Amino acid sequence: MIEIKRITKTFNPGTINEHKAIDNLNLVLNDGDFITVIGSNGAGKSTLLNIISGSIRADQGFILLNGVDVAGLREHKRAPYFGHVFQDPMKGTATDMTVIENLALAKGRGKRRSLFRWSISKKDTKFYEEQLKSLGLGLESRLYQKVGLLSGGQRQAITLLMATIAQKPSHNQIRKDYVKFNPNRREEAKKEVESVYHKELKKYKEAKKLIFKDNSLSLAEKIAKRKEAYAQFDEQIRKYDVTKPVLLLDEHTAALDPKTAAKVLEITDKIVKEQHLTTIMITHNMNDAIKYGNRLIMMSNGKIAVDVSGKKKQDLTITELLNMFSSASGNDTLSDSAILG
Ligand SMILES: Nc1ncnc2c1ncn2[C@@H]1O[C@H](COP(=O)(O)OP(=O)(O)OP(=O)(O)O)[C@@H](O)[C@H]1O
Ligand SMILES: [Mg+2]
Repeated sequence: MIEIKRITKTFNPGTINEHKAIDNLNLVLNDGDFITVIGSNGAGKSTLLNIISGSIRADQGFILLNGVDVAGLREHKRAPYFGHVFQDPMKGTATDMTVIENLALAKGRGKRRSLFRWSISKKDTKFYEEQLKSLGLGLESRLYQKVGLLSGGQRQAITLLMATIAQKPSHNQIRKDYVKFNPNRREEAKKEVESVYHKELKKYKEAKKLIFKDNSLSLAEKIAKRKEAYAQFDEQIRKYDVTKPVLLLDEHTAALDPKTAAKVLEITDKIVKEQHLTTIMITHNMNDAIKYGNRLIMMSNGKIAVDVSGKKKQDLTITELLNMFSSASGNDTLSDSAILG
């Protein structure tokens, strides 16, 4: 859960250019929320995302990630917890590096380790290939090409992947973080995660014993079955991973042609759903804002003017959205591109 509390940001204070971009804003994101954000130019949408990711510091207020204040953490320390994707396809990737080097860099994020090409193992290469394949853009055959050669849409798809493939923490780390990120119920959290861990570990060990005792299985079958049992064990523990990245998407398809934009949005939706990622997506396209996610927020003058979720959000029409916006924001207007969707 992310709690954004009383965040305020004024640019150029005390000068003729003084501008309050975020005005005492409160927002609670539940785990797995996929929020679409719309609002007129200058409403404060990008500023809000920049404050959450740490690239801009708020003047006041708190950002609590599962109860822990991250507002004081510098951007690179926050990096493992947030994946920020921007409008400009040039921004997310290193153009002079190959596709696989970019992915390896993203996977090792937050780790102090040099990333020479030869340090990418066969296993990792296979993993990257599979990940690229899942995008459905044929990029798995371009692992060793420089990213600079790819189209904007292909790059954005890779950036999305990079934002979500950070190195998975070890079970030990997950158990530690779960306690750390539940500061108000540490004892309870510790008991909870430890009891599940030991129960699941015991289950896995017993399953493993049975598999290897079973003489009707070939060695290859035994190994495959053991892998399966481990995957089940692993899945149960990963449910407790509170450090999965939160995706922050700032008009990440705006620079793409309509067909590619639609494809990248489909990919976004798939990644978000499969990994149960908490996501905030800014868009000027009202149709997309209604179609994707479980919650829709409209910003106006640094505040949240409308916040709808669930069935009410699903059933929204563009006309209703426009009416809501004009009644909530007074004289603020949405841009033509937003209206035309
Ligand atoms: N670094 C900065 N210095 C000064 N003013 C800024 C800065 N960044 C943003 N602003 C101002 O803060 C306000 C909010 O900007 P922001 O970029 O958050 O808007 P936005 O809702 O993302 O708009 P758009 O839809 O055009 O992207 C604008 O008036 C903008 O000019
Ligand atoms: Mg913006």
